[in-house]
Amino acid sequence: MLLFKTFAALTAALVSLVSAQVSSFADAQLHLEIAPWPPGPGSILVPQQPDDELTAMMAEVDPAHIEATITKLVSFGTRNTMSSQTNATRGIGAARDWIQAQMEGFAATSGGRMTVEVAGFIQEVDGAIIMPTNISNVVATLTGSVDPTRVYLVGGHYDSRNTNNSDFTNDAPGADDDASGVAVVLELARVMATHKPGATLMFAAFAGEEQGLFGSNFLATTLASKGMNIEGMLNNDIVGSSTADDGTTDPFNIRMFTQGLPSTETLAQLQLRATIGAENDSPIRQLGRFVAEVSSNSITQMNVQMDYRQDRYLRGGDHVPFIEQGFPAVRFTEPHENFAHQHQNVRVQDGVQFGDLIEFCDFEFTARVARVNGVALWSLAQAPGTPKGLTMDLSVLTNNSTLKWTDDPLAASYEVVWRASEDPFWTHVIPVGKVSEATILLSKDNAQFGVRAVGANGFKSPAAFQAIAD
Ligand SMILES: *[C@@H]1O[C@H](CO)[C@@H](O)[C@H](O)[C@H]1NC(C)=O
Ligand SMILES: *[C@@H]1O[C@H](CO)[C@@H](O)[C@H](O)[C@H]1NC(C)=O
Ligand SMILES: *[C@@H]1O[C@H](CO)[C@@H](O)[C@H](O)[C@H]1NC(C)=O
Ligand SMILES: *[C@@H]1O[C@H](CO)[C@@H](O)[C@H](O)[C@H]1NC(C)=O
Ligand SMILES: *[C@@H]1O[C@H](CO)[C@@H](O)[C@H](O)[C@H]1NC(C)=O
Ligand SMILES: [Zn+2]
Repeated sequence: MLLFKTFAALTAALVSLVSAQVSSFADAQLHLEIAPWPPGPGSILVPQQPDDELTAMMAEVDPAHIEATITKLVSFGTRNTMSSQTNATRGIGAARDWIQAQMEGFAATSGGRMTVEVAGFIQEVDGAIIMPTNISNVVATLTGSVDPTRVYLVGGHYDSRNTNNSDFTNDAPGADDDASGVAVVLELARVMATHKPGATLMFAAFAGEEQGLFGSNFLATTLASKGMNIEGMLNNDIVGSSTADDGTTDPFNIRMFTQGLPSTETLAQLQLRATIGAENDSPIRQLGRFVAEVSSNSITQMNVQMDYRQDRYLRGGDHVPFIEQGFPAVRFTEPHENFAHQHQNVRVQDGVQFGDLIEFCDFEFTARVARVNGVALWSLAQAPGTPKGLTMDLSVLTNNSTLKWTDDPLAASYEVVWRASEDPFWTHVIPVGKVSEATILLSKDNAQFGVRAVGANGFKSPAAFQAIAD
């Protein structure tokens, strides 16, 4: 058993379903039971649960569809960004057209709410891009019925590579990296197309990831230049296998990479974060806490492990251009990677099979990852947006903590959430009603405070942390 340094740390571990020590979903369930003593203001935060519609939708997520998508994408031989865009059976163009056709099929079931766009640009020679290349993303948009200008996006990349990142002719099956992520995107587009999300959902398949995040950068900058309000982006890249390189399996954990400090803040803002202890309270971390809270449960049968970094060492992904545009974005990746199965020519060497082959994929695992994304995405879309304009009253020295924010007409009420400053997850919740100011009898010197909006339907937004002034 673990020894907890402080009572607050114990509370956090008990309340949270998320722990690096948790090795199975069943163990994680035990973490909800015990109340803390002495209790602080408010009550212990109990993770919000999917409603009946969301539960039914997630039951439709089908490992057989995941398998069919990965099988089809692998069948194009190579999906290297510079491979053929015109051959009907081999190369990235065939993959692009097949993904587009799938999405258009889902859109046909949506009553006109889902549209599909293939937009791209010509990337000139740059590094591993050795010839001018059309880089196109395939994006389905399911327009929100309540708050259409607020957007949540789920993505994966459909390009693949082998050992030589510029090799556009030889096989690069890319089953795990990243047909698995595209399978998550397509499966969620399929099951959600017939439903009506409150906010807008975008389902994106990116190209040009391997040579420099070109497709995702094009989409993120396009959305930013249109002034779109992207309140969350979920990137799925290498979510196809639960087996480590030593053969052990870890099928009920998914890593979620969540950068700490925002990439877009000035030095003065970062210094202010440091002085008030807000380095663990960026919008990305709030999105991460939200996903861990809503998506670690019996519906997904997964533990979401929040990893405090932008990405793994030496790696990057399609969430990064979104972060650079100021949008909160996280990355999902399987818990133990096998590097013999990534970015490798298909070959047998010293009796070891190299290559990103479909035989190494676990479709049930990827289906659970799809449910983690689905529960998070739908919960975000059904809740009001994250509260805006949150400030902490600093006009006088007091042991109380007074928070003020801008009221949102779409919020039925608000909740103040708090945790001890050294705790990773929100531990306590205080319902405060339909107000735009609340005073909590707890010192802001020792606790972190957030405010989340509650919809009339009961869905709760990610928490806002106080704005960091420029
Ligand atoms: C398309 O690719 C297939 C498989 O490599 C090949 O047999 C065929 O000749 C190609 N078609 C064209 C028009 O290049
Ligand atoms: C890139 O290819 C897509 C898909 O075929 C096409 O719609 C688009 O017009 C092309 N873009 C450019 C700049 O050629
Ligand atoms: C990688 O592939 C490209 C395209 O075929 C080729 O021009 C380049 O020489 C290759 N690089 C290596 C190191 O083999
Ligand atoms: C804290 O708030 C309580 C209740 O509003 C009030 O009675 C008390 O005076 C406040 N204390 C300080 C130091 O502001
Ligand atoms: C703040 O709380 C401390 C104990 O936690 C107490 O000693 C102090 O008097 C309080 N200050 C005010 C202004 O209430
Ligand atoms: Zn990848």
